[in-house]
Amino acid sequence: MSRTARLSTPIEGAQLPTVCVPVVFDDDGYVIPQSVPIVLGGQKIPRALSKDWCARQGLKAEPASVVVLRALGESTVVFVSVGNTYSNLENYRLAGAACARCAGEGSLAFFVPTEVIENPRDAVQALVEGALLASYNYKKLDSSSSFDVVPVGVSLPSVQTHNEVVEGVVRGGVVADAVNWAKRLIDTPAGDLSPRELAKQVLKRLESDAHVDVDVWTETRIKQERLGGLLGVGQGSAQPTRLVYATYDPEPGAGLPHVALVGKGVTFDSGGLSIKTGEGMMAMKTDMTGAAVVMAALSVASRLELPVRVTAIAPMTENMTGESATRPGDVLTIRNGMTIEVLNTDAEGRLILADGLSLAVEADPDTIIDVATLTGAQAVALGDEVGAMYVSTDELADDFLAASRRSGELLWRMPLVAKYESHIESDVADMKNIGKAGRAGSISAALLLQRFTDSRPWVHLDIAGPGRCDASRGYLTKGATAFSARTIVEFLTAVAQSNGD
Ligand code: BES
Ligand code: MN
Ligand code: ZN
Repeated sequence: MSRTARLSTPIEGAQLPTVCVPVVFDDDGYVIPQSVPIVLGGQKIPRALSKDWCARQGLKAEPASVVVLRALGESTVVFVSVGNTYSNLENYRLAGAACARCAGEGSLAFFVPTEVIENPRDAVQALVEGALLASYNYKKLDSSSSFDVVPVGVSLPSVQTHNEVVEGVVRGGVVADAVNWAKRLIDTPAGDLSPRELAKQVLKRLESDAHVDVDVWTETRIKQERLGGLLGVGQGSAQPTRLVYATYDPEPGAGLPHVALVGKGVTFDSGGLSIKTGEGMMAMKTDMTGAAVVMAALSVASRLELPVRVTAIAPMTENMTGESATRPGDVLTIRNGMTIEVLNTDAEGRLILADGLSLAVEADPDTIIDVATLTGAQAVALGDEVGAMYVSTDELADDFLAASRRSGELLWRMPLVAKYESHIESDVADMKNIGKAGRAGSISAALLLQRFTDSRPWVHLDIAGPGRCDASRGYLTKGATAFSARTIVEFLTAVAQSNGD
């Protein structure tokens, strides 16, 4: 099932099968906003819920805690906690998700008390994102049910407030649609999503987006362009390799800030001749998460008409063991002329990203961001909830962490330890593709990538851990998360804003 979000009125909203009311926790229990209708679902809605009552009904203090009230033949009423303030965006995402889960396959309405919310646009966007992301289901594509946002106020909401709510509904809808699109690609079995098919799906989505150009490079072009890392990884597969080069430029020649995105698009990672275990391969259809994420972010930039230039580059290939596969000990020459000794064919992500980053540099952007399910070591270090962020400057780190705080996608800054450069020294090439066994594996991968950034402002996201989740929780659904897509969108939004100041 997937849902769509729309704005509606209290009268329309109250008729839907599930009607949701936000409540805020304080010392005496829960407070219900003044502007929420006095009667909903055939029940009188009080203005406060006592501590005792909440305890009996199981309504707890934490955000997204719910109590569900059913009267025969009436709409189900859900009180949902947004925490102890009306202004925490993550809590709105969690509340939206909790309500969507309560509603099951049916439509629901959410009453938004505009008089007590400082920033209705961002709150509504978060609410919509949470509800729509939680409604994703790989097995069900129909989108007959809706998520109605119902702005209410003690007095009539002002025109400005009304517009902000509309903007929040639109933004949340656009962002969640792109993230759910990426999740669907990531969850698709690798047998159904070859590099060629992935490129086709990306082209299909982006070709109708405004001011977007998409080029799909076939192997002939990839050879002409001398992408030796990408070719080396793909040569063991029967499926042809691709590279998608997409640009969004709403005002060519206007000197808009330019961000280049590079995403790892390994549609299946068997490890190659340095083959993984059966267990180790089970989730490897998700190894193209970076590619899906960067293309989703570019699509959002276009659909929200952000005044920023975006170049998104995604090398797409399958890492297999065919008779032409790259052998441990082989040396590959990357686009920028540097050579890499492949001592472990399972460290393939950095080989294709080296080519991707070299291309990104040539596009002359102000900032480069790459996203990859790069190392198991990242997941060991930070687990499923936190992505590893490597950044070339403190200023860019601050900006990117600010974007992450807004998106709710947790990142932790990791060090680019110069002393570990020795880990990737090679006897026969400029570098080797693995570091010291069991030592700082996520860092040595980042150090290798850094060599292809030409010392430009650069963010590297290693998202092997948070790229998928093993059980639905909050607004995440089991399987693909498309982690970091929303943070990149927040970053692009901030870059666009700062340019106008
Ligand atoms: N795609 C994997 C990383 C990965 C592991 C992502 C688990 C998600 C979950 C990557 O290509 C890989 O195999 N990395 C190796 C590198 C090693 C051989 C230096 C790893 O982490 O084991
Ligand atoms: Mn691998
Ligand atoms: Zn991989």
